[in-house]
Amino acid sequence: MTIKKIGVIGAGQMGSGIAHVCALSSYDVGLYDVSTDKIEEGLATINGNMARQVKSEKISEADRKAALERIAPYSSFEQFGDVDLVIESAIEDEDVKRKIFNDLCPHLKPDAMIGSNTSSISITRLAAGTDRPERFMGIHFMNPVPVMELVELIRGIATADEIFQEVREFVGTMDKSVAVAEDFPAFIVNRVLLPMINEAVYTLYEGVGSVEAIDKAMKLGANHPMGPLELADFIGLDTCLSIMQVLFDGLADSKYRPCPLLVKYVEAGWLGRKTNRGFYDYRGETPVPTR
Ligand code: CAA
Repeated sequence: MTIKKIGVIGAGQMGSGIAHVCALSSYDVGLYDVSTDKIEEGLATINGNMARQVKSEKISEADRKAALERIAPYSSFEQFGDVDLVIESAIEDEDVKRKIFNDLCPHLKPDAMIGSNTSSISITRLAAGTDRPERFMGIHFMNPVPVMELVELIRGIATADEIFQEVREFVGTMDKSVAVAEDFPAFIVNRVLLPMINEAVYTLYEGVGSVEAIDKAMKLGANHPMGPLELADFIGLDTCLSIMQVLFDGLADSKYRPCPLLVKYVEAGWLGRKTNRGFYDYRGETPVPTR
């Protein structure tokens, strides 16, 4: 296997989780974000989550220390010259991702591979905007990355078989399981999960149940680890909305219409846990429903 060094773009919730699992699996990692503050925050998150794993004896203190030493902060794409695989995990905005690939590609070695952690955008379209569509594919991790076992792998129309196999092998080295999805809007997990979350928001919007009732119903009635509204806050309401928009636009079916209440929360900047307010208010000791 040729993958030894990974470049992760985006030190947010997903990017920091990806850097975390790569470093724990002995890969060298360069973690890039647009500001040193964001990289520092990402590194602090990784440190904290690894400490949780030490506490619950999933990893040793020596593993944590060694993994942290494998992660280098990257402040420029020029530092990506010796990276074997880039995993892009920037915000779910196609223009932003395209600009990143445009600025990044000239600095990569010719045989470097690119994976996007997009949760819904066409891999074929993103790949077409790079100088290496055959070495580009979707590598979609689930949140929280250190805990969730699944990684969805998505081939673009041009992805070479050997690249797909190499990435599949790489994912296997991190103790993750692969589900292969075709390149259609939102792939598998989000194609099924997000309409369920959107429907939960409609259930709230139409007054069928309160935030608490909806979450309790799905936790105790369907054995989900989190209720759909709690999960929406966890994923980020802006991300939920953009995935619904991709489904609505890409499949042209009214059943994917984003709930107006979801739109309103995003317009208010109440994006869930990351802004301390969404369907719950997280500013106090225990989360309080906002409706
Ligand atoms: N890093 C490391 N460890 C973590 C962690 C993190 N970020 N978050 C939780 N953990 C660990 C905890 O330390 C704990 O470990 P032990 O059991 O060894 O003590 C374990 O995970 C369980 O955590 P908690 O006890 O804190 O809480 P919990 O039992 O409620 O589990 C949860 C938390 C794992 C997040 C669980 O609620 C869950 O599975 N929720 C659903 C998550 C989900 O559906 N994710 C998919 C979202 S969709 C997506 O990601 C795709 C997309 O593109 C939008």
